[in-house]
Amino acid sequence: MTDILQAIRGMNDVLPDESYRWQYVESILRDIMAAYCYEEIRMPVLEPTALFKRSIGEVTDIVEKEMYTFADRNGDLLSLRPEGTASCVRACIEHNLLYQQAPRLWYIGPMYRYERPQKGRYRQFYQFGIEALGFSSPNVDVEVMAIAWRILKALNLMPYVKLEINSLGTPQCRKQFRQTLVDYFTQYKDQLDEDSLRRLGTNPLRILDSKNPSMQALIEDAPKLADSWNDEAKAHFAAVCVGLEAVGIEYKVNSRLVRGLDYYTHTVFEWTTDQLGAQSAVCAGGRYDGLVTQLGGKDTPAVGFSLGIERLLMLFEQQACKSPHPHVYLMSLGDEAQRQALCLAEELRTQFPALRVHFHATDASLKSQFKRADKLQADVAIVLGETELAQGVFGYKHLKKAQEQQSLTKPALIHQLQQEFLQHV
Ligand code: HAM
Repeated sequence: MTDILQAIRGMNDVLPDESYRWQYVESILRDIMAAYCYEEIRMPVLEPTALFKRSIGEVTDIVEKEMYTFADRNGDLLSLRPEGTASCVRACIEHNLLYQQAPRLWYIGPMYRYERPQKGRYRQFYQFGIEALGFSSPNVDVEVMAIAWRILKALNLMPYVKLEINSLGTPQCRKQFRQTLVDYFTQYKDQLDEDSLRRLGTNPLRILDSKNPSMQALIEDAPKLADSWNDEAKAHFAAVCVGLEAVGIEYKVNSRLVRGLDYYTHTVFEWTTDQLGAQSAVCAGGRYDGLVTQLGGKDTPAVGFSLGIERLLMLFEQQACKSPHPHVYLMSLGDEAQRQALCLAEELRTQFPALRVHFHATDASLKSQFKRADKLQADVAIVLGETELAQGVFGYKHLKKAQEQQSLTKPALIHQLQQEFLQHV
């Protein structure tokens, strides 16, 4: 027997009973982006590995452990993108978008990380992201957070999420804080767990992120980022807080929020939830003023976020979101009737472009076709059986009202559909 091949672990199919939710969320995202005058950008899923090493950082979990990297037939080292910011910045530099304008961009698509799959954590997952390049104003940090807030509100998810913010300060503050942390944790080296010990030499800020209970007391007493902020960092963060309050966005300052990617400066933020177990971050981002220069472009401030679509949908699952049902279910008996039903379906779609017409194309009995129409919650059945065919009429039965089946001529049928669905289609 031939083996049945399966999808790669952590990479999911989105089946028809879920895809309408994706479409619904995507339509909300597009509408909100139009309202904020952000424009779409589409980047390749494969990029040179060097792009991610230079942007996300050589000693981050993503680059060290999670990238799908391989040499192509030419021997060039490529990686499936683990996130969108690096590609977006690369594209802006490559196509001179930064010299003519300050682009505000959005993207949606699959990202790849070789993580241990579990609920809410996948190896292929979808991100929706936005990046505003060319603005140093803290008000743009606020606008970016307001966009996430509006998306979450539009999906009625506010009861499940909260916003946490922090500031990494300027690159100088960050550097100084790194040293302060190394000095602090080195004193307690014998109390560090394996992960933290490794991070002490590579990325000490990430020790603050540790969820290990035995590390919490040490982390609690660790120096705070805020103590290393200079005047510029303080002023920027204060303006962000004032802006959030002015717009009416609730937030909490989390002095331990550092984020897992190296490119951040100043504001960092996460919208988190307690509904998805360990995978608490639904949407995350921040300011990354140094990244454009790091990737070879001119000095350009920037800020953005990405949200995980699967995580968003898992929260959204808790709410009713109905799959669109057929307006009209076209059923027939016999070859000739089925062909006529096919033609009628096409005619109806031409005449009423928004009418959802389901053409039943099997030889099943009318009884089972009615059953199927009921299951799909169709509003109206149009029946083409032997009698109808012989008389040149169409059976018309409303499936949600207690009405007898009628026999209608074509013009009467069109009129009836107009009456029934005029307001909707
Ligand atoms: P990130 O925190 O690595 O940031 O990812 C952003 C979001 O992607 C997370 O909050 C989560 O919702 C989702 N996500 C990440 N990994 C997985 C996974 N394995 N499975 C499912 N969902 C996942 C970034 O990627 C930055 N590029 C965000 C950014 C944009 N910063 C500035 N601009």
